[in-house]
Amino acid sequence: MTEPEPASRVIDPARVTARERYQLMTSLVVPRPIGWISSWSEDGVANLAPFSYFCALSVSPLLVGVSIGHRRDGFKDTLRNLRAREAFCVNVVTEALLVAMNESSAEVRPEVDEFDLAGLARAGSERVDAPYVAECPAVLECEVRREVDLGGAPNTLIIGEVVGIRLAESLPFEEGTMLVLPEALRPVGRLGGGAYAPPGPVRRLPRPDRP
Ligand SMILES: Cc1cc2nc3c(=O)[nH]c(=O)nc-3n(C[C@H](O)[C@H](O)[C@H](O)COP(=O)(O)O)c2cc1C
Repeated sequence: MTEPEPASRVIDPARVTARERYQLMTSLVVPRPIGWISSWSEDGVANLAPFSYFCALSVSPLLVGVSIGHRRDGFKDTLRNLRAREAFCVNVVTEALLVAMNESSAEVRPEVDEFDLAGLARAGSERVDAPYVAECPAVLECEVRREVDLGGAPNTLIIGEVVGIRLAESLPFEEGTMLVLPEALRPVGRLGGGAYAPPGPVRRLPRPDRP
């Protein structure tokens, strides 16, 4: 192991450009889970796009949040659809689906179905009004609960409640728990820019005893 070096170079985020702030944050808040979000448009076109400003928010209620930046010329299809249908699915990005996830991020017109673009099959959820990626082994089915305007660029935070957790029959749990085994799921996180973190060897640490 290399000697730890103190972080003595201080960057004032107000003195760099928005692009540089984005580059700093996306390479330091890492690895980020990717909310790979599928939805229906108001007139029934399927939509699929990845969002790494995505996280789990609470367990009871079971909430997730996704921050969607606006385009110069209007809203992203995902935001439009989540407003219209009040539902979405979060498809967990695995090593096998990484390339397809990246292909689905293309900035295309609302009439274009990114499932087709990425060569993926669509399946319709019975529980929520949204499609999901048929090849994906783990999917969170969500209903939209709240929208928060984050201002700035601008960005909109959508908070959704998970009302269904769909898992492949073969996905194993750690014994005696409902912890999905990462060695079987093989999830991928996002680093800065086009860098991703495929699963390496998994380390397990016991939590320290409480006093
Ligand atoms: C891995 C990855 C993560 C992304 N994360 C975000 C994000 O958190 N917020 C965002 O607004 N765009 C994000 N994007 C860009 C969107 O995926 C992209 O704008 C997409 O075209 C939006 O599609 P839509 O118009 O169908 O909603 C990300 C792209 C990639 C490849």
